[in-house]
Amino acid sequence: MEMHGYPRLASGKEPTSRHAPRSPRAPRGPGIHSDNFHFPKGFLWGASTSAHQVEGHCENNDWWAWEQAGKVPERSGDACDHYHRFRDDFDLARSLNHNAHRFSLEWSRIEPREGEFSDEGLAHYEQVVDALIERGIEPVVTILHYTLPQWVAAKGGWETPAMEELFARYVARVVDRLGDRVRWWLTMNEPVVNVFKSYIIGQWPPGRQDYPLGFKAIRHMLRSHVKAYHAIHDRRADAMVSIAKHALALQACDPRHWRDRLSVRVRSYLFNHLFLDALHKGTLRVPGLFWERLPAGRTLDFVGLNYYTRDFVRNTGFMIPGLIGDMCTLDQARNVGKRNDLGWEVYPEGLAQFLHTFSRYDVPILITENGIPADHDDDRWTFIFLHLWQVARAIADGVQVAGYMYWSLLDNYEWADGYVARFGLIGVDFETQARTVRDSARKYANIIARNEL
Ligand code: FCB
Repeated sequence: MEMHGYPRLASGKEPTSRHAPRSPRAPRGPGIHSDNFHFPKGFLWGASTSAHQVEGHCENNDWWAWEQAGKVPERSGDACDHYHRFRDDFDLARSLNHNAHRFSLEWSRIEPREGEFSDEGLAHYEQVVDALIERGIEPVVTILHYTLPQWVAAKGGWETPAMEELFARYVARVVDRLGDRVRWWLTMNEPVVNVFKSYIIGQWPPGRQDYPLGFKAIRHMLRSHVKAYHAIHDRRADAMVSIAKHALALQACDPRHWRDRLSVRVRSYLFNHLFLDALHKGTLRVPGLFWERLPAGRTLDFVGLNYYTRDFVRNTGFMIPGLIGDMCTLDQARNVGKRNDLGWEVYPEGLAQFLHTFSRYDVPILITENGIPADHDDDRWTFIFLHLWQVARAIADGVQVAGYMYWSLLDNYEWADGYVARFGLIGVDFETQARTVRDSARKYANIIARNEL
């Protein structure tokens, strides 16, 4: 017997041809088909920034001092002058349908001298939060995005155990002020990247190359997060607290070589997993080397995930740093995808891999950064679409994803890479501060409006 002109399958099921008639919302299993390109209701859509990269004149922090000392080719200067233009920038975000926005607080504006909190600094961020809420945009607040007040840096920054108390006091102040309006908090941005750049390769302040010191900094960051987590929850029980964790897809330079594969495992544990594992379990563990109980476990209400690219790893020895290995150039690796303007490979599959891997923490995952520096805006759109496709796939597989924040809302100051890297959905002319909404931003806005790909 035929139904609607299609033969019945022997199993009695409806045929699966894409022409087969079915009700528009008939439930279907996981997999790649159009029903699964809807995003969940309440999905957070938006973009991210950080204070030092957009505000301009963060003159009282360690990065500003680093720039003035000529340690990087370009200085941040006015940046996007977002400190004064945030309302106009949020109007643009709203016009692009964003319903969430991630930004960071500049500690050096809030506590310019030890123990002296600035009402002007706190009032500024209160206005930023209010401006978002007035536009129907959910604030996602990063409490520390790399930069430290100069007085904190002078005390030793992340090297000193005093950071735990200093950070907790700062956190308590900001949550006292903003906690009634802000639910989503990231205590710190990319702690492991911060340590890698600042204490291993020495490119960022304080410019050290010292593994033991780097490890000490990690310990202090973990303990500071735990304290901050409780300081936030004491003030707002339903807060959603996490860190923004950079995750880097890794592959062996020579997949047939066990030594390269071993280095991938070591690097992947240290770089991608150690920090989140420690916060989840409440123990800091470096197998064979170190074990320590933290004051508490389960201090992640969600995972903030920053994802950009994949690196290829070559083993160079059996002690640290040889076990961690080196990166080989992409030319040597096969099957490498297109590269962006900074030479990073575009590897969207990595995003789905991390969404799956991090779902083992059993909390929602918020993509807090994902983006591309691109002079050609078509590349940006392709990048966003391919990555959202991976997000939709992971959601269809049952991963809880709370939202997607593109990096970045605006072209901005990209640390040691200065102003050449153009990540923005909105272009910025750094001479005139004129903003230009890019096509990719409009296409992204259409996806948000439909809540589906
Ligand atoms: C991330 C940082 C962010 C920005 C992007 C490109 O690692 O969190 O500040 O620099 O990379």
